Amino acid sequence: METFATVEAMRAWRRSQGSRSVGLVPTMGYLHEGHLSLVRAAKADNERIVVSIYVNPTQFGPKEDFAAYPRDLARDSAHLEREGTDVLFAPTDAEMYPPGAATFVTVEGTLTEGLCGASRPGHFRGVATVVSKLFHIIEPTRAYFGEKDAQQLAVLRRMTLDQRMDIEIVGCPIVREPDGLAMSSRNVYLSADERRSALSLSQALAHAEGRIRSGERDAAAIRAELLDRFAETSHARVDYVEFVDAENLAPVTRLRGRVLLALAVFIGRTRLIDNRTFEVGE
Ligand code: PAJ
Repeated sequence: METFATVEAMRAWRRSQGSRSVGLVPTMGYLHEGHLSLVRAAKADNERIVVSIYVNPTQFGPKEDFAAYPRDLARDSAHLEREGTDVLFAPTDAEMYPPGAATFVTVEGTLTEGLCGASRPGHFRGVATVVSKLFHIIEPTRAYFGEKDAQQLAVLRRMTLDQRMDIEIVGCPIVREPDGLAMSSRNVYLSADERRSALSLSQALAHAEGRIRSGERDAAAIRAELLDRFAETSHARVDYVEFVDAENLAPVTRLRGRVLLALAVFIGRTRLIDNRTFEVGE
């Protein structure tokens, strides 16, 4: 595996690959099985694979965990080597944001107005900006993103389409711990007690599934039950619990067709997200 820290070295490698297919997996590092599942999917579809590790400052709010975000490049590097990664791109801030950087990519409308877009102003502007840069630098054939961040995936699909980028966006299923907790780099922040409370997210999704299966079609009714459950969970404070249209992420009142249930819940000081898509019949 080769590791590049500069845009120039990354570009030189890309040029050397000519028309070979290149799969890109953008990450912020502190890799877990969720990230590695994307690496494996990229490996299966492409002749070469590039993984980027960059904790992108512009997608963190002023009161968020940018400084504390877990980092371990040596351990990540060993994981990626084992997975048969061709290139690790780990740039510095000055490489990604040249001094005086003033250009941002903003995806507007329902895709970014609700859910994490509402509670993390500027977050998706930071994500779209950095992913756009990575796409220009690496020129991948395909790029892989987790359904764990369902809104991010929808925003990046929109950006790629709107900007007429010739890159296939591939969504990959959520990878969970054996007990159901969605894997996340932020799970390391949880105390043992909080780790137990964190199960309330995947359990809420399972509860909703049961209610939909038994015929409930009123989004507000299920939402109220989920809020009650979180109110009784120690350490839990709900940021949002929303049923939205799985395509445009606009809120829905009656459950019908492809519906996304998205959750963001603080467990202690750690903000966790989870989601599930339901195919709801009449
Ligand atoms: P990060 O949180 O490191 O996640 C990198 C990729 O791994 C994202 O596409 C995310 O959806 C995916 N992922 C994380 N946990 C997952 C899980 N349990 N199962 C499946 N996929 C999972 O998302 C980002 O970084 C950044 O916003 C980034 C896109 C790199 C831009 O900075």
